[in-house]
Amino acid sequence: MGIALNAVGFTYLPGTPMAREVLSSIDLELHSAEILCLMGRTGAGKSTLLGVISGLVETTCGDIVMDGENLGGRSVTRALRNAVGILMQSSERQLFAETVAKDVGFGPHNQGMSGEKLKQRVRESLSRAGLDPEIYAPRSPFSLSEGEMRRAALAGVLSMRPQYLLLDEPASGLDLPGRRQLYATLEELRSSGVGILIVTHDWEEVELLADRVAVLSRGRILLEGETEDVLTAVDELAAAGLRPPALVEVLAELRRLGLEIPLRLSSPRETAAMIAAALQEVAG
Ligand SMILES: Nc1ncnc2c1ncn2[C@@H]1O[C@H](COP(=O)(O)OP(=O)(O)O)[C@@H](O)[C@H]1O
Ligand SMILES: [Mg+2]
Repeated sequence: MGIALNAVGFTYLPGTPMAREVLSSIDLELHSAEILCLMGRTGAGKSTLLGVISGLVETTCGDIVMDGENLGGRSVTRALRNAVGILMQSSERQLFAETVAKDVGFGPHNQGMSGEKLKQRVRESLSRAGLDPEIYAPRSPFSLSEGEMRRAALAGVLSMRPQYLLLDEPASGLDLPGRRQLYATLEELRSSGVGILIVTHDWEEVELLADRVAVLSRGRILLEGETEDVLTAVDELAAAGLRPPALVEVLAELRRLGLEIPLRLSSPRETAAMIAAALQEVAG
């Protein structure tokens, strides 16, 4: 199960002098029950790509296969919109209703759900997003802290029970406890089978959460693979305008100085032990 993009491209205002190719030849898969992190500089096309995968933006070329079904034309955007939830950048600004319950239940209510069923759906979504429904449902969304607002917005997305979840920099601006809670929520969703794509600039987040990482540069996937391999692909990261994690950067510099040392991501303690061992080798 998953969503596969095959040679997908997207051009703004195609066929006009203003035409601008923002995504080209994108091959990318998002599997169920995994966390894929998407990285890339500002302007690389990350948000546009999220728009494509969530069915909000229609591609200019290529095709999209969801759960083994090749979706063409308009049916693709409809099918994606039904299956994919998206938490936009600064999602706390999406809150609008007078209570958290109304905000979270907005989507299902729009689809005709009401009464006890709707209440139950709201409670379930709040719990999944890490907010106690008893406490938060009756409150005004504007009385919440930033982290709580972010989770209320997430609950609103989860109320549609998406099979896939896309999040655009979900942890930015959150303090450490806020981040930890968000990460725990995402890990739980992954365990329950949701395929998750996170746009992030934070290596710690990538190390902690990602099963796979994709790097976007100028509208193309420059690098894609297992987290460990991407984190240590120093040259490709540089080509995408990204710096690797600091520890990896130190190891790469030491190798450049001639020290025979594996380029691997480990804890600071293991990295220090590795450096000490390599130095001892040189001295001995
Ligand atoms: N409505 C638009 N019309 C024309 N170009 C756009 C529009 N929206 C975004 N772009 C351009 O598309 C490129 C990718 O933008 P975006 O997907 O927001 O990148 P990212 O999220 O990686 O910062 C940028 O160069 C941006 O200027
Ligand atoms: Mg963006």
